[in-house]
Amino acid sequence: MAFVPSERLHLGAEAEVWAGTWMGQDAVRKLRRPRKWRHPDLDNRLGYRRMMSESRLLIRLKRCGLNVPAVWDLDPKSGRMILERMPGLPLIEILRNGEISQEFIDKTLRNTGALIRRLHREAITHGDLSTNNILVDENGKPSLIDFGLAAIDYEIERFGIDLHVIDEILGASHPEQNGAIDLLLEGYASEELRLGEPPEQSGGAVPTATQVLKRLEDVRSRVRYHG
Ligand SMILES: Nc1ncnc2c1ncn2[C@@H]1O[C@H](COP(=O)(O)OP(=O)(O)OP(=O)(O)O)[C@@H](O)[C@H]1O
Ligand SMILES: [Mg+2]
Repeated sequence: MAFVPSERLHLGAEAEVWAGTWMGQDAVRKLRRPRKWRHPDLDNRLGYRRMMSESRLLIRLKRCGLNVPAVWDLDPKSGRMILERMPGLPLIEILRNGEISQEFIDKTLRNTGALIRRLHREAITHGDLSTNNILVDENGKPSLIDFGLAAIDYEIERFGIDLHVIDEILGASHPEQNGAIDLLLEGYASEELRLGEPPEQSGGAVPTATQVLKRLEDVRSRVRYHG
């Protein structure tokens, strides 16, 4: 692979991510890290399946025009993937940076909600919607990364859970930004108003924004009730 690494961006439990160039373009290389506690055969199979699924969904979403990284190269056997490097900072850093205007933050949160709705309209749930997996460029335009836990879905529950994950994170990790989730959900709902009813997908009908927002309320009250 013609990847020229420059700096390591991330070393997590599952993946090591390097920034660099690929064919002269800004790229990242995502390397799957072996999980020592898992049997190597099982670990290889799981890792292979995850990387195949992540790249397949990214390619599909890119084709639909969503702001996600292009997949430029893939070697699932050795657990390596070359992706387009998305510009900007993780949403977590935008929310924590005291010098960024509230106007920019509000716009970013609405845009993020709209992007999540566009993802859901393609019958795809993300599975790990944390403020680390949303990158924001200088114009407040978000992109989504890290589709290792994403899936094609028609069941409303996983759509509701996607919103609940970001709801909990915004509430717990960014309490100073109160009302953040409301702006995000406003963006989620307005995107549907703008685009109309979600189109039928190959596997059937996708839940509407109104249905998913209702399910989020159900998940919230379940969590409140059961602790
Ligand atoms: N396409 C990309 N463009 C820019 N930065 C990226 C890209 N992909 C990953 N990164 C950076 O690397 C970090 C980790 O990547 P990613 O979220 O895909 O891995 P992960 O599956 O969460 O890994 P782990 O579970 O080990 O933490 C991201 O939070 C982001 O900072
Ligand atoms: Mg991640």
